[in-house]
Amino acid sequence: MIKWGIMALGTIAEKFAYTLQQKGEGRLYAVASRSLEKAEAFASKYGDVKYFGSYEELCNCKEVDAIYISTPNNMHFENCRQALEAGKHVLCEKPFTTNTQQAKELYSLAEEKGLFIMEALWIYHLPLLKKAAELVAKGEIGDVNYIRADYGFTAEGARRERKFLSSLGGGALLDVGVYNLAFAKMIYRKDPVNIKTDRILNEYGTDSFGTLLADYGDNKFAALTSAIGIKMPTEGVIYGTKGKIYFPNYQKAEYMKITYNDGTEKEYNSPFEINGFEYQIEEAEKCILSHLQESPNYPHQESIGIMQSLEDIRKLWGMKFEFE
Ligand SMILES: NC(=O)c1ccc[n+]([C@@H]2O[C@H](COP(=O)([O-])OP(=O)(O)OC[C@H]3O[C@@H](n4cnc5c(N)ncnc54)[C@H](OP(=O)(O)O)[C@@H]3O)[C@@H](O)[C@H]2O)c1
Repeated sequence: MIKWGIMALGTIAEKFAYTLQQKGEGRLYAVASRSLEKAEAFASKYGDVKYFGSYEELCNCKEVDAIYISTPNNMHFENCRQALEAGKHVLCEKPFTTNTQQAKELYSLAEEKGLFIMEALWIYHLPLLKKAAELVAKGEIGDVNYIRADYGFTAEGARRERKFLSSLGGGALLDVGVYNLAFAKMIYRKDPVNIKTDRILNEYGTDSFGTLLADYGDNKFAALTSAIGIKMPTEGVIYGTKGKIYFPNYQKAEYMKITYNDGTEKEYNSPFEINGFEYQIEEAEKCILSHLQESPNYPHQESIGIMQSLEDIRKLWGMKFEFE
């Protein structure tokens, strides 16, 4: 069994810890926060879990096999490096880093050290999205020429500030636009060759809204829109010459419907066992136990391609983070 450590105990760390707990006692071995009191309170909710008041102590904990990193975006590079240098396998929250060069450096370092590392872009491991990709590859809905995906939510007060701060690598694109790009990439199996895009910047100098028309070559396009401040259902539609696949919520893909051009329909239901996070955890554990350094389902090159798209889009917008 893999013994997990969690670095940074914010919102998403709770979901990760809960998922580990549901998967079976003992998986969550230790947690670390910048505050010892916070770490102690967090650990107490999950049974017999060690806790530390610094990220460094977690990295140096001999019993921990793998670390899940859930710090703000701007810290992922340094925290992944710290964990890898300490000999830990890593699962790091999306967006993996804030630029492509950093992603490449981390993947090289993991390779050098013989360690597993994966970006926690969990939708890549959802059974129904994998099923849709498989059906499309088999030509079930003919040639796919167009994909549409939207993702927008609202955030207020301190949460809104945390989501937008340029110093933390904020903005809707890196927060949720990354899922739209991943959804399209899972179907087209490639990155865009050309992107037309526009955005609305907020008072922090990051994007609260971004919309793009991505050209994947071979007459394949995607219209992808992300926002923080506008509620948009996380819909995804894959349009082919023989029909379409509709996801009312592609990010939490438990249901999809194929509508063929003659009007007939086929529905697919695939309820999550826990909350959807279990699939990326299972994938990471399987890879670590098999001594793999990357997931065959979400290889490093795939993540680097997405990082490059994020960087290209920000360049087109003229949007730089404070630390760049
Ligand atoms: N996969 C998903 O569904 C999903 C969902 C939401 C977010 N995420 C990703 O997960 C990461 C964390 O997001 P979150 O929503 O959990 O954020 P959050 O609630 O703000 O938590 C981030 C944690 O990072 C630590 N931290 C260290 N330096 C910090 C600083 N300068 N400012 C704020 N926090 C700092 C804090 O933990 P300590 O105080 O314990 O040190 C904080 O609780 C982001 O990269 C985000 O993109 C993924």
